Amino acid sequence: MEFLEDYAEKGAKVKMVTFLNPAGMDIEDWKGMGIPPDFAEKQLRVMNAFRKMGIVISATCTPYLAGNLPRFREHIAWSESSAISFSNSVIGARTNREGGPSALAAALCGVTPDYGLHLDENRKPQLLVNVEARLEDNADFGALGYVVGKQAKNRIPYFKGIKDADSDQLKALGAAMAASGAVALYHVEGITPEAHLMNAEGLESISVTDKDLDDTFSKLSTGKEPDIVILGCPHSSLKEIMTVARKLEGKKLKKPLWVCTSRMVKEAANRMGFTQTIENAGGKVVADTCMVVSPIEEIGFKTTAVNSGKAANYLPGFCKQNVVFSRLTTLIEQVTE
Ligand code: F3S
Repeated sequence: MEFLEDYAEKGAKVKMVTFLNPAGMDIEDWKGMGIPPDFAEKQLRVMNAFRKMGIVISATCTPYLAGNLPRFREHIAWSESSAISFSNSVIGARTNREGGPSALAAALCGVTPDYGLHLDENRKPQLLVNVEARLEDNADFGALGYVVGKQAKNRIPYFKGIKDADSDQLKALGAAMAASGAVALYHVEGITPEAHLMNAEGLESISVTDKDLDDTFSKLSTGKEPDIVILGCPHSSLKEIMTVARKLEGKKLKKPLWVCTSRMVKEAANRMGFTQTIENAGGKVVADTCMVVSPIEEIGFKTTAVNSGKAANYLPGFCKQNVVFSRLTTLIEQVTE
């Protein structure tokens, strides 16, 4: 906070359109979330400093769904690991895994160092992944990402055997690999835009089966009865919110349920009536934040249920949570009357 306020007071201004990672709370409804006031006060100071520097207070890890969509081969400097993975792999833009300060430096200077994943020769695959597992739900992609990230570490995987995947499933896959490992780029045969340029012959290879995914769901589920269900890691697309709304239509929740997203996507969900449907069931669409970066342990939750491999990986360490990691339909069945 002091670092950012110092920059802002000295007149630092970004040279290009710059979006912001999630905050620790819904900036407009932090009281409704149960956020402690001293935490909120500091978050608002941080937001103000960013605003003064000319940064868009997008507060999302899916900027590409909220108005900041780079083009294929565009050079960018991003610092949120799931967004980095998505932009490199699914869009084909180019970024290294920047830290917050180095991405801010790039925004202020208007340049970023030309090394690593900005260069063609460093975007080649280093590990072949044969997918033999059935992938049906977005959570299956998160579980797959968790398994592969553990083995790939910071290498570039090349997936064979994924027959189909929509952009939400690819974002779940990349987010989990960037969390259990440090994967910044992956290729999926027949699906991602640079895969056809790559040669995966002769690479070290691994296979992932249904049993590997089942083992991952069990291993990451350290709790049984959730205090809350939190969806939207990475931040939900409009389609994901629509899916949740449809599953909750006419039902009542026995436990709190949050769907995390960006303010921009929430506006669209409001307009479509999805937010209202979720609220009628007793849930919330929470903007600007998520289960990992908000202080959910201070709100009093001890066991959180998620459908995200990334969140399941991070919640025990970052937020002292027991975790229930499962597919969306199972989670909703568990907490509705
Ligand atoms: Fe985004 Fe929070 Fe997950 S920042 S990727 S929703 S941990």
